[in-house]
Amino acid sequence: MAAFSISDDDIFALRYARSRDDLWDMLSRIYGTHPDYARFRKALERSLRKAWAERPADLKRLDLRRDLEPDWFQRPDMTGYAFYIDRFAGDLKGVPGKLDYLADLGITYVHFMPCLKPRPGDSDGGYSVMDYRRINPAYGDMADFEAATAACRARGISVCVDLVINHTAKEHAWAKKARAGDPRYRDYYLMFEDDRLPKAYEKTLVEVFPDNAPGNFTWYPDIGRWVWTTFNEHQWDLNWANPQIFLEMVEVMLFLANRGVEILRLDAVAFIWKRMGTRCQSEPECHMLLQALRAACRIVAPAVIHLEEAIVSPEEMLPYLGRGEHDGKEGNLAYHNSLMVQFWSALAARDTQLMTHVMATHFPPTLTNATYATYLRCHDDIGWAVTDEDAAAVGLDGRMHRAFLSEFYEGAFPGSFAAGEPFQFNPETGDKRISGTCASLAGLEKAVAAGDATAVDRAIDRILMGHALIASYCGIPLIYMGDEVGLLNDYGYHDEPRHAHDSRWLHRPVMDWDRAQAAAAAPGSIEGRVLAGLRRIFARRAATPAFHARHPTEILQTGNTALFAVARRAPTGSVVCLFNFTDFWHAVPASWAVQNGATGLHDLLSDAPVGDGTGAIPLPPYARLWLR
Ligand code: GLC
Repeated sequence: MAAFSISDDDIFALRYARSRDDLWDMLSRIYGTHPDYARFRKALERSLRKAWAERPADLKRLDLRRDLEPDWFQRPDMTGYAFYIDRFAGDLKGVPGKLDYLADLGITYVHFMPCLKPRPGDSDGGYSVMDYRRINPAYGDMADFEAATAACRARGISVCVDLVINHTAKEHAWAKKARAGDPRYRDYYLMFEDDRLPKAYEKTLVEVFPDNAPGNFTWYPDIGRWVWTTFNEHQWDLNWANPQIFLEMVEVMLFLANRGVEILRLDAVAFIWKRMGTRCQSEPECHMLLQALRAACRIVAPAVIHLEEAIVSPEEMLPYLGRGEHDGKEGNLAYHNSLMVQFWSALAARDTQLMTHVMATHFPPTLTNATYATYLRCHDDIGWAVTDEDAAAVGLDGRMHRAFLSEFYEGAFPGSFAAGEPFQFNPETGDKRISGTCASLAGLEKAVAAGDATAVDRAIDRILMGHALIASYCGIPLIYMGDEVGLLNDYGYHDEPRHAHDSRWLHRPVMDWDRAQAAAAAPGSIEGRVLAGLRRIFARRAATPAFHARHPTEILQTGNTALFAVARRAPTGSVVCLFNFTDFWHAVPASWAVQNGATGLHDLLSDAPVGDGTGAIPLPPYARLWLR
């Protein structure tokens, strides 16, 4: 029998054949009439081949494995953890030493918060990048980075990094050349000689940072141009109508993939395409470009998946996971912002009607080739993305409910358990976003300060209930650094000149390793109970096959406004998950659980039977049950 062998060229050809149409159908529609299209096509093909030739052998092996196991990121043992390298591990060399800690927590995916070379001074938490091919020198260099990704990979932990594709720092080499007048690079950005077009665009644009960066354009007298700057003044929006930007970004993407990145978090993707008379968010071209980026990556580095960051309404978010013609071909992951918002909303209101309505109405039971990134907190603020229509559907006034949530999580509402701070109040719309750590927003800060043991119990239960929710709802749950030991708000940011204007630093504390050690040593302490609780949740999740993302997620009606219920439907049996969002006792009839598929009346989280023997399942305050 002849030995089977296959060349690198053959593998490339097979993968190219698989994704060729997904790539060129989109690109020809967007750039087909551009005078440089033919040259662009050739250049892109060359770049793909070059990146494949340079791809290290161990990553090529990972590619093959992922081709065989394309559901790897949808499996229930996937759990993510996001951290700033300096705040968590000092620098990149410190990362390998933290992997035991992460593995104990069940982590299989780490998000290194922005780690490419940022501009000096305020860099919007690293999202103002001046060099995509260099590592932030405060964290180490590219060799340290590759060593860190290799160490993670060896432990079965996939590394995610941010790729900011909507803008560069104004100090990026492209921007500097554009500023110096080089026409090739001027076409990389969106520049205007007078304010006619900026003014016309502004009519329908929204403001992302109305407090500290009002407006979407900045005037530079030295070049006599307005520059499109959606976010901060130092972040210049890229001109994606120029095919050269696509080419540059594919090259950067594959450069990072070849250094061991397995998840590319494509930042602020909703903003990349501009159209007069619109909000310039989530235009159809965004999805065409994102499908093409995905196809390019599947050709060269199929081990890599894309997390698309679009913090928008449910209808607007779902297309980032592929809808219609992009089904199964766009993002593999997108943040489930609605689930996060609804969690905090239901907690404050002690009422789940809005949550049940939103989750049941807007989200399909399954997705193709994709799943959600579920989370309770991240490095950004919480914006109360509740539409007036959804609020009205359950008898609420949208504006009043959003105002209530802000007041509640600022801690100002009478009886609020939360401690937080406002972020970017917009007097025009009344919108006020919120900053704060998971633990502080959930009541731990106030409870500890008051020395109130019952309130501490309640706060811990809220934290654990929330994590049990994101661990069982479809997706990869992401833990934000420090939440596993209940880190509180860091008010010290007010004294740091680079951060004082941005309250998001309230919930970006430095990891408290003493607290982490105390948590591990004393499981009965406050931090110990949080840590032990989270470890248990993620271990039980990993052991529950029904939580694979391929299995449908069905929102259940309990008839009780204190409870949220979701069933995961697997052919091998359902799991019915129940959450009590109030500090009162409630119950559901055992017959309800059985009718909905929980035939065993056994809680997978506590690994104990449920039911009080009289046909009811009692639910203590903030109960979380996963019934098989
Ligand atoms: C994303 C990031 C956020 C940043 C913004 C601009 O939304 O999560 O932190 O400010 O992009 O880059």
